Amino acid sequence: MDKIRIRGGRPLRGSIVIGGAKNAALPLMTASLLTDETLTLTNLPDLADIATLTNLLVQHGVGFDVVAGAQGHGGRVVALKAADIVSTTAPYDLVRKMRASVLVLGPLLARCGVAKVSLPGGCAIGTRPVDLHIKGLTQMGARIDLEGGYILASAPEGLRGADIVFPTVSVGATENLLMAATLAKGETVLANAAREPEVTDLARCLVAMGAEIEGIGTDTLRIRGKDRLHGAEHRIVSDRIETGTYLMAAAITGGEIELVHGDLDHLQSVGRTLSAAGIEFTPTERGFRAARTNGLHGVDAMTEPYPGFPTDLQAQMMALMSVADGASMITETIFENRFMHVPELMRMGARVTVHGASALVRGVPRLTGAPVMATDLRASVSLVLAGLAAQGETVVNRVYHLDRGYERLEEKLAACGADIERLKE
Ligand code: UD1
Repeated sequence: MDKIRIRGGRPLRGSIVIGGAKNAALPLMTASLLTDETLTLTNLPDLADIATLTNLLVQHGVGFDVVAGAQGHGGRVVALKAADIVSTTAPYDLVRKMRASVLVLGPLLARCGVAKVSLPGGCAIGTRPVDLHIKGLTQMGARIDLEGGYILASAPEGLRGADIVFPTVSVGATENLLMAATLAKGETVLANAAREPEVTDLARCLVAMGAEIEGIGTDTLRIRGKDRLHGAEHRIVSDRIETGTYLMAAAITGGEIELVHGDLDHLQSVGRTLSAAGIEFTPTERGFRAARTNGLHGVDAMTEPYPGFPTDLQAQMMALMSVADGASMITETIFENRFMHVPELMRMGARVTVHGASALVRGVPRLTGAPVMATDLRASVSLVLAGLAAQGETVVNRVYHLDRGYERLEEKLAACGADIERLKE
């Protein structure tokens, strides 16, 4: 398995081009199941999770053609065409690799009236159930049984509109039900819906495909179902988590990075928190610049659904705060087990005490390099950030986690002056 070796201590300077958002691309790709016409997606990132979902969609019968490779500052252009759905089963072997595979459930059920999707199971950051997806589809008239580790869903007469109030905000459940509702009979209201930019991006693409959706960008989505949707072309929104990760790389090394295609509007709570910590943001023609010119102060952060501080930047924030002046309280409210990076950061010299859902981070002047290992995507990248700031050598194991969500990470960082390389095995 590949490793990444970093020799830390260099301030990063330069530009990094941000790709299309992984978490927008995944639901957008599953939206192709809603029509027999072609859905063309531009700015598609080249990531392991995208390849996993492509394999799943292809076995459902979706044609996947790369129309143009990544050029200049844009990702790939791909055409997805679900002319004939040859299988409505999403098998365990493919779903277990990535939880987001469950996003085929709503579209398959809405289009074919039947779907059999493996239960995704737990993952390193928590149990992550899919009860809200199932309950919502049941309210829309589906019959759902759980059998042999699979969700067996059927709606022979088709789905019908329903008033659905989510008890907690769920990105995936909002996306699954939003897609299902576009082909249901009558009107569906999704209240307390997720407002993440990735949900908004999906809603916009569905509208381009002929769906009727009101309230896009708010927590109440009103969808009037159609008999059919048609093909469309859609550009995937830029990845706010990749942007946030690299701006923290500038911050933790005391450097300055321009985030090309970065959109600070999608990172307002992060911007506010990091401004208070001493990071300066300047808009540029192509995106914005993040710089740490003076000190770095400890500030508190609590993860919340959008527009709050994203849980997918919590581990990176902790790495940053581990070298700040003073203390920081980091509270995780979305996932129950998302402090897996703490023991690894502590092996690099960070001073962190966890009390339930909160971690008290006392800043130290310097981290020291160490061999480290992480159990999920964002935890892994927090260790890369720590390595960039640490004295000496850090080797991050289990690089496959990084490849799920960061395209050419080591290349992008090296271009800004980082001493970082991939060790192939
Ligand atoms: C998505 C993102 C992930 C991000 C998360 C929260 C994708 C592919 N992944 O994951 O990177 O960290 O949003 O912003 O977009 N829950 C239930 N029942 C359900 C569904 C969710 O209890 O049926 C709980 C989860 O366990 C969690 C919380 O709701 O505690 C939020 O999860 P959710 O927003 O659904 O996350 P995902 O869509 O899986």
